[in-house]
Amino acid sequence: MLITMNINGKKVDIDVTADEYLVDTLRRVGNLSVKRGCDTGCCGLCSIWIDGKPTLSCSTLSVRANKKNITTIEGLQEEASEFAEILVKEGAEQCGFCSPGFIMTVIAMKKELENPTEEEIKHYLTGNLCRCTGYMGQLRAIKTYMGVK
Ligand code: FES
Ligand code: FES
Repeated sequence: MLITMNINGKKVDIDVTADEYLVDTLRRVGNLSVKRGCDTGCCGLCSIWIDGKPTLSCSTLSVRANKKNITTIEGLQEEASEFAEILVKEGAEQCGFCSPGFIMTVIAMKKELENPTEEEIKHYLTGNLCRCTGYMGQLRAIKTYMGVK
């Protein structure tokens, strides 16, 4: 079936099957930042926004995205670069495999939460997993990015 999405501000018409997931459709049209990790809705790697809300694209049928605004990290280059610089300053750059989904979630958090506590930050990031060394550097970078201590 033919669906229409607005991906990062650009209208895209695409044929999808009824059982196709959004992660595959987005990659098919060139959004290669969207990656599949666990494929069970547990790791956050495939996070994108639908109408501004963080969503797991591995668990969302493409037909559900018909007539929606989709944002991937390709559409958030300025914000992503700003946060990436902070990650580097905090010594929190690691292998980067989880970064697209993680950064999508952090940018969404900045838009949604004002002066969050550490607990609120951790709660917002529930479901975004990183298999590298640890989360402390990332947490420092998020606090700096959010402007909280
Ligand atoms: S691949 Fe979607 S949550 Fe892991
Ligand atoms: S930075 Fe390596 S998995 Fe997160």
